[in-house]
Amino acid sequence: MSTWANLGLQDSASPLMEQLIFFHDHALLILVMITVLVGYLMFMLFFNNYINRFLLHGQLIEMIWTILPAIILLFIALPSLRLLYLLDEINEPSVTLKSIGHQWYWSYEYSDFNNVEFDSYMVPTNELENDGFRLLDVDNRIVLPMNSQIRILVTAADVIHSWTIPALGVKVDGTPGRLNQTNFFMNRPGLFYGQCSEICGANHSFMPIVIESVPVNNFIKWISKNVNS
Ligand code: CUA
Repeated sequence: MSTWANLGLQDSASPLMEQLIFFHDHALLILVMITVLVGYLMFMLFFNNYINRFLLHGQLIEMIWTILPAIILLFIALPSLRLLYLLDEINEPSVTLKSIGHQWYWSYEYSDFNNVEFDSYMVPTNELENDGFRLLDVDNRIVLPMNSQIRILVTAADVIHSWTIPALGVKVDGTPGRLNQTNFFMNRPGLFYGQCSEICGANHSFMPIVIESVPVNNFIKWISKNVNS
């Protein structure tokens, strides 16, 4: 999760988020180079006397400053397309989780396991444990196995919500009447926090998401306990 003074991206917990961070750094590097070059040119403009006895036209320089930016854009566009298609790839999921957005909480269904279902509300500040995270912890967490392909189906019951988890690189809108799909792979255990990121009403800020990433045998224990109860 994000903590104090963390202005960058969160540490990744999935291969896709790792790729997203690499792409971000790559694009930022190009952006800095462009900014420095343009900044330098604009600064040098102050010392230009605007007089050149021989200047009538500049075919060559115009060719260069037209084609060069196009080539630079290609270096961003092609990796971006690669990532876009990589994010949409579905690799035979072993667990499917359906998350439904409501005003203002999430509810979840494990369709593969006798439809285990529960609601997940934010823990109000006055009921928070001493080690709890304000505005981020929920009463019922999602438990999912790590090192497994997981499919998420997202929809909503009232207005548009968005199921967003920064550490996993997941962000999918839940729209009433539609069923959106995404997938991820968690490569370490831990708690991964997320929030709704579609302005969905007065309590939009208060419908967080918590995933408990656990080893597969722990997940089986948890789900079998819940199937039977
Ligand atoms: Cu749900 Cu914002």
